[in-house]
Amino acid sequence: MERVHLTESIYLSRIIQGTMGISLHNRTPQETLSFMKACVELGVTTFDTAEIYGNYSTEEAIGEALKLDPSFRSQIQLVTKTGINMASSVRPYAFSHYDTSRERIVAACHESLRKLNTTYIDVYLIHREDPLIDHQEVACTLIQLKQEGLIRSYGVSNFDPFKFEALHEATGYQLVTNQIEWNPLVTEHIDNGNFDVLQKHGVKPMIWSPLAQGRLFDLKDKETAPVAKVLHELATKYGVDPEVIAYAYLLRHPVHAMPISGSTKIERLKNAVKALEIKLEREDWYRIYLASGQKHLR
Ligand SMILES: NC(=O)c1ccc[n+]([C@@H]2O[C@H](COP(=O)([O-])OP(=O)(O)OC[C@H]3O[C@@H](n4cnc5c(N)ncnc54)[C@H](OP(=O)(O)O)[C@@H]3O)[C@@H](O)[C@H]2O)c1
Repeated sequence: MERVHLTESIYLSRIIQGTMGISLHNRTPQETLSFMKACVELGVTTFDTAEIYGNYSTEEAIGEALKLDPSFRSQIQLVTKTGINMASSVRPYAFSHYDTSRERIVAACHESLRKLNTTYIDVYLIHREDPLIDHQEVACTLIQLKQEGLIRSYGVSNFDPFKFEALHEATGYQLVTNQIEWNPLVTEHIDNGNFDVLQKHGVKPMIWSPLAQGRLFDLKDKETAPVAKVLHELATKYGVDPEVIAYAYLLRHPVHAMPISGSTKIERLKNAVKALEIKLEREDWYRIYLASGQKHLR
């Protein structure tokens, strides 16, 4: 498995495993641990989570699994996120909003460490753009958490290129990623200049919803059928599953994306890993890019 160099000492697996689905499937700690170990056997050592996943329960599910085999922690990298106050049955918020204040980030970091049953987080992300963000305050807080050894690196998620630049500068250019949505149905971050800004800084994005939650392959849905048709045709051409082609599309871009597989099934993760062996021809990349009908070349 290709390793991606985020800092001098932090390497992630190019393919990351997401955990949004873990607690939804009511796995036992042993089942979660076995699943994580199966990922590592494929070379996928990096796991993405967030404090809000599973109605604030997923971090704990991972922590319970890690408790069963403490030595496993050193074989993996944990990515988690903060900054969303999600109204839910387990939180007192009247409505959902963002909070990137110093107090909130520090408290959330300690809570995530406790739930994950770990002494450090490898990559700590600000989950969404907070219109009330104070870049200096957030930067100082992240820098301090890193100095204390609680987080090894930090970045953002769903930031537009202007907000990314502002926080990147405030941290002394230390953001290690921007975790964003990208698949053949969503071109937002190509269009808004994010990929260009990330390439300029040599920062590699993590990609969520790489398969658009399975919608990419739906030949019956009017919106997705043109993309699905191209993916199926290219699957035949390259002799692989259409899911492999969908991942190969993301991996082909020079921005050096790190896709996060959201599947709860190892078979799908194998398709993501297989895509590392495929280099799409430029023309084929464009066939996928244009298939959604949102883009027209002049
Ligand atoms: N930063 C953010 O704001 C943000 C937002 C969303 C997600 N994320 C992260 O990114 C990860 C991946 O996102 P995602 O879950 O949207 O990724 P995804 O891989 O596009 O979607 C995974 C979901 O789609 C289903 N699926 C995949 N391929 C399918 C197919 N061919 N047919 C039918 N169903 C299929 C999976 O079901 P099975 O489990 O049955 O395979 C699973 O429920 C998440 O786990 C989370 O860690 C981050």
